[in-house]
Amino acid sequence: MSWDTVRLDWDGDVATLTVDRPDALNALNVATLEAMGEALEEAADDDARALVLTGAGNAFIAGADIKYMRELSAEEAQEWGELGHAVADALETFPAPTIAAVNGYAFGGGCEMALACDLRIASESAVIGNTEIDLGIIPGWGATQRLPRLVGDETARRMIFLGERLDADSAAEADLVGEVVADDELDDVAAELADRLAGKPAFAMRTAKQALNQGYEGSLASGLEYEKRAFASLFGSHDQREGMAAFVEDREPEFE
Ligand code: HXC
Repeated sequence: MSWDTVRLDWDGDVATLTVDRPDALNALNVATLEAMGEALEEAADDDARALVLTGAGNAFIAGADIKYMRELSAEEAQEWGELGHAVADALETFPAPTIAAVNGYAFGGGCEMALACDLRIASESAVIGNTEIDLGIIPGWGATQRLPRLVGDETARRMIFLGERLDADSAAEADLVGEVVADDELDDVAAELADRLAGKPAFAMRTAKQALNQGYEGSLASGLEYEKRAFASLFGSHDQREGMAAFVEDREPEFE
């Protein structure tokens, strides 16, 4: 399938989803969000073992499309919110690990798409923030819930209340991104990490991701209970038997 403002490229088992609307700094409109949803479905159906999300040109995603959003009624805004949430949820529940390669501006809804990924790498010139407050709105695609989980409540409140725009180093200091790399190294570093993730046993990877996600769904106690069951469910799988056999036999494992 092909889309006007989204590209899905493959390198082996690794899919890269690029938001490709550089004239608007990759701001997300309805068509782009719908295309992202379809591309994520396609990548999952085609068994991507890792997925990189990035933006074309010098921006990651400069947010939701303000020109589209400005005249929405409350009812339309509800639908608009649902659409963005559905894409963020598709990233969060994507059956393989996802990496946001943040190559420039990641504001508002752009920051929220990065938050929905498993891991984030920023280029030196990236600028990241939930800037919605300065438009008279609040984050609407997940940041009020996902940002504090990542950076802690105090930092999240500062960022959201003040609409702070963090440079890449400050974002790393706040644990909003895991790593900062030179602009011209971002694609390679993201590809290398994606390759490493793709090489791990897929069933265990998916189960680890589900268990980590589940931990945010309820209490610590229910998360720990979930982990116990998820952990046990891996035993008897080919990859568990093979991984442990390889360790004991001092050889490289051959995962399914
Ligand atoms: C629509 C946008 C846009 C956006 C940039 N553009 N961001 N269009 N929505 N979010 C467009 C500009 O209008 C302009 O189009 C072109 O992209 C280039 O942008 P410039 O502003 O000329 O570039 P520059 O001076 O380099 O400034 C870049 C910038 C600035 C700092 C990123 O564009 C900016 O502040 N953008 C808004 C960022 C923001 O507030 N994002 C959060 C949105 S709210 P033309 O046609 O003039 O060339 C949000 C809510 C999510 O995301 C939740 C929803 C439920």
